[in-house]
Amino acid sequence: MDHFTYRDGALNAEEVPLARIAAEVGTPVYVYSAATLTRHFNLFREALAWTPHLVCYAVKANSNLAVLRLLGGLGAGMDVVSGGEYARAVAAGVPGERIVFSGVGKTRDEMARAIAGGIRQFNVESEPELAVLSEVAAAMGAEVPIAVRVNPDVDARTHAKIATGKSENKFGIPIARAREVYAQAARLPGLRVVGIDMHIGSQLTDLAPYRQAYGKMADLCRVLRADGHAISRLDMGGGLGIPYRRGNEAPPLPLEYGQVIRETVGDLDCEIEIEPGRNIVGNAGVLLASVIFLKRGEGRDFLILDAAMNDLIRPAMYDAHHDIVPVAERPPGAAVAPVDVVGPVCESGDTFARGVELPGLEAGELVAFRSAGAYGAVMASEYNSRPLVPEVLVSGDRYAVIRARPTIEEMLGRDRIPDWL
Ligand code: LLP
Repeated sequence: MDHFTYRDGALNAEEVPLARIAAEVGTPVYVYSAATLTRHFNLFREALAWTPHLVCYAVKANSNLAVLRLLGGLGAGMDVVSGGEYARAVAAGVPGERIVFSGVGKTRDEMARAIAGGIRQFNVESEPELAVLSEVAAAMGAEVPIAVRVNPDVDARTHAKIATGKSENKFGIPIARAREVYAQAARLPGLRVVGIDMHIGSQLTDLAPYRQAYGKMADLCRVLRADGHAISRLDMGGGLGIPYRRGNEAPPLPLEYGQVIRETVGDLDCEIEIEPGRNIVGNAGVLLASVIFLKRGEGRDFLILDAAMNDLIRPAMYDAHHDIVPVAERPPGAAVAPVDVVGPVCESGDTFARGVELPGLEAGELVAFRSAGAYGAVMASEYNSRPLVPEVLVSGDRYAVIRARPTIEEMLGRDRIPDWL
């Protein structure tokens, strides 16, 4: 459920008409609903109410400081994968004790900054990383809590580019090597083994792969404890999918996901950590765009928008589907015709949808891409020198610009022409 609904014939974000935001901020623009963010975060908390837990929001899904402040204020921890994300979490007011640091390529500098600033745990992804983290921590006189990310070799049944739990993926250490790696971790200075970490992929729409992976995690937990490791936390990763086609998809709910966790690892007396990203922010955001032209082509018509692949890359990158809806509501049964929805960027990949049935839309009319709150703005670029897309947060009847659109001058102002040119 989200808070983007038609009222008096116009699509609203909570109580704010999207047309008002478009008029005042311009398009393209991302618009998020605070009520939806709050609701989705709370669903995960309720799903784990049976156990001590921490919901560590995956910052990569949407890292705007206002979004992080809102979630942090609700008690969220954060899962970060870079020094930049760590700095964002801290800047949003999240204490280090609630931040976990994941990722296959942490640099010494990133490690040192997180240790200095405070960290709940590093999720270590390889033996070389273990050795370097030990060195960095020991040199700082610190003892840092770690979990080792274990790759369970489970097929997450999702898009190949976002599956992470198979042995051919670059993530984690093979589960068969886990005992050796934990033994090594226990010997190294500067490290304190506290948990096990897994993340098998993103946009999972089936609970079976989770059940399989978490079953392996439970077995491993018992084995590691028998080896003498004090495993007190299990980080289950993120990945629970969302419906991208309204009315046609019903992925499992957080509550059902929480049940799978309970059934697989619930008897181990561990604190449970989860790292949901998309499920919290995905359906809490839309990308609002205006029609520039309707171009009649040969055998197909093109609806050319002022949003492009640089603003929302998911369709070009993963063939992802986003529902596209007119902001001005059409009466039921209004005539529709197939169009290709495209942006102004100069490549054919800049296509959001082909042959989608939409009502007649005039130049200047507004459309909204649904389910665009996750991996939308964070993956945007200025390709074709299109200024970075702004972001707006709505709460009830008020809204705020939480990232302004740079002016053309600001965009150019970041470049430097050396004086020898
Ligand atoms: N934890 C780790 C270690 C991750 O790598 C990820 C996502 C998450 C948590 C959060 O997963 P989520 O709950 O959001 O599915 N750009 C792609 C998605 C990439 C996901 C990468 N890792 C997309 O637009 O679909």
